[in-house]
Amino acid sequence: KSVFQGRSVLAEKDFSADELNYLIDFGLHLKALKKAGVPHHYLEGKNVALLFEKTSTRTRSAFTTAAIDLGAHPEFLGANDIQLGKKESVEDTAKVLGSMFDGIEFRGFSQKVVEDLAEYAGVPVWNGLTDEWHPTQMLADFMTVKENFGHLKGLTLTFMGDGRNNVANSLLVTGAILGVNIHIVAPKELYPAQEIQDLANGFAKDSGAKLLITDDLDEGMKGSNIVYTDVWVSMGENNWQERINLLQPYQVNMAALKKTGTPDDQLIVMHCLPAFHDTTTDYGKEIEEKYGLTEMEITDEVFRSKYARQFEEAENRMHSIKAMMAATLGNLFIPSV
Ligand code: CP
Ligand code: NVA
Repeated sequence: KSVFQGRSVLAEKDFSADELNYLIDFGLHLKALKKAGVPHHYLEGKNVALLFEKTSTRTRSAFTTAAIDLGAHPEFLGANDIQLGKKESVEDTAKVLGSMFDGIEFRGFSQKVVEDLAEYAGVPVWNGLTDEWHPTQMLADFMTVKENFGHLKGLTLTFMGDGRNNVANSLLVTGAILGVNIHIVAPKELYPAQEIQDLANGFAKDSGAKLLITDDLDEGMKGSNIVYTDVWVSMGENNWQERINLLQPYQVNMAALKKTGTPDDQLIVMHCLPAFHDTTTDYGKEIEEKYGLTEMEITDEVFRSKYARQFEEAENRMHSIKAMMAATLGNLFIPSV
C-alpha cells in the first residue's frame, strides 16, 4: 500500500512537501504519456462520482477526461440531480455513494460537507473547491510553475486581489509547505484570516518560505516570478460594488507587472480562470452597465501578453487531477515519499 492509497484530498495542509512534490511530478509524467499517446489505465473498471453544487468548466472537464483516460467511468451529479443537503443528509448520501463508487469528487460551498463525505463514504473524496480551499487547483498551479522554471523552492509568487478567497488561502498554505515565497497583496479588509496566516506561518518555518501580506503594491510586487490573480467576487458572493471599491487599485495590469523588477524571462502571470478581462459575455456586459468596468482583476492586455500562462495552467488541471486520482485510488507501486 502506498502512502497515497485510500486517502482523501480535502485540504493541502494534510500533505507533506514530499507528497505534494510527488503528485506534481507524477502529473508531469502523465502529461508526457498523454502527449506521446501512451495508455495509462491505472483505474480500469473503477467508478467515480462527480458532485457539483457550484458550476464549473475546468474542474468538471478535468475530472471527466482524466477518469476516462485512466479507464474509469465518471458520473456527473449536479446540484439539482441528487438529494444531498436537501432531502437527504450528507452522512446518508456518503454511505450510499461510497457503496457504489470507488471515489467521489465534491465541489460546493462548505468545507464541512466535503469533510463529512470523506468521513462516511469509506472511499477517497477529492475536494474540487469549497469556500475555503481549492487543492486540485494547487496541484495544477505548482505543476505549471515547475514546468516553467524547472524548480519550485525559492521562487516568489504574488497573489493580488481578494486575499480571503479559496484560491488565496490555498496558495498561501501550499507555497508555505513547498518553500515557495508567497506574497498576498490586498487591501487590509481582504487580508487572509488569522488562522490561515498562522497555519501558513507554521509550515513556512519548516520550508523556509518567506510570506508577506501587504496592501503596498510596490513592496508586494517586488521580486515576483509569478503574478497570480483571481476574480474579485467568488461563486456564492454578490458584493460587486464593495469589492470594486476595495480592489480597483489591485488590478493586475502592465504597470503592476513593472513593479516586480523581474527580467522578462523570469516572470509569468497566472489565473485559475474564469477571468474578467473583457465584456464579450452577457455577464460581462451586465457588469459593465451596472459598474462601468470592462476589466477587473486582470487587464485584457496582460491576459493576452507573453507572460500569461492561464491556459497551460487550465490544461494541467487534467494531468494533475489524473495523478491525484491514480495515486489515491489506483493500485500503483509508489515507494515511500
Ligand atoms: N479554475 C477552476 O476551478 O475552474 P472551474 O470553476 O471552471 O472549474
Ligand atoms: N475564487 C473563485 C475560484 C474559481 C475557480 C471562486 O470561488 O469562484
